[in-house]
Amino acid sequence: MSNDGVNEGRRRVLTAMTSAVGAVGVVGAAVPFVGSWNPSAKAKAAGAPVEINVSKLQPGQMVTVEWRGKPVYVVRRTPEALANLEKMDDKLRDPSSEKSVQPSYAKNEERSIKPEILVLLGLCTHLGCAPSYRPEVGAEDLGGSEWLGGFFCRCHGSKFDLAGRVLQGVPAPINLEVPPYKYLSDEVILIGEDQEA
Ligand code: FES
Repeated sequence: MSNDGVNEGRRRVLTAMTSAVGAVGVVGAAVPFVGSWNPSAKAKAAGAPVEINVSKLQPGQMVTVEWRGKPVYVVRRTPEALANLEKMDDKLRDPSSEKSVQPSYAKNEERSIKPEILVLLGLCTHLGCAPSYRPEVGAEDLGGSEWLGGFFCRCHGSKFDLAGRVLQGVPAPINLEVPPYKYLSDEVILIGEDQEA
């Protein structure tokens, strides 16, 4: 086993990281994943809801779409990432999202309608920078073994888990916001409109 196995493992990790980093914050990079995301300029200016097809979004990947001039992060979380959420509670400022902004259907541990698909506003709740997607467990620059994946805001160092929940001891006061959204079909999400509107 070994070297080959190790190298193969490394290759997979690097490929995953490259994909994740490549999609962060780059609306243009979202296009291959979101064939149906193409609202007219007029509709966008009016704040129209934005449709996104997540069928090609791979586990661990994130894509960014624009809604009302703001970045919205859409992540397909891995089973490992979902399992790690419950290990975060004692590191979080508001694990149950009591003080967070999210629709009622996202007030659960995963903060989402379907557990694997996370939809978040990509704006730090401190002063509004766009946090980076950092799904790598154990990232040395983010606390090593303490880091189970999440989002990191470079502006002043705020950290969030993979449900957008803020960690303790950072400047951001509350969890990342979940915008209104709903599923139009199994893999198509409409961001900006829901059943509660
Ligand atoms: S804007 Fe994110 S930590 Fe300040």
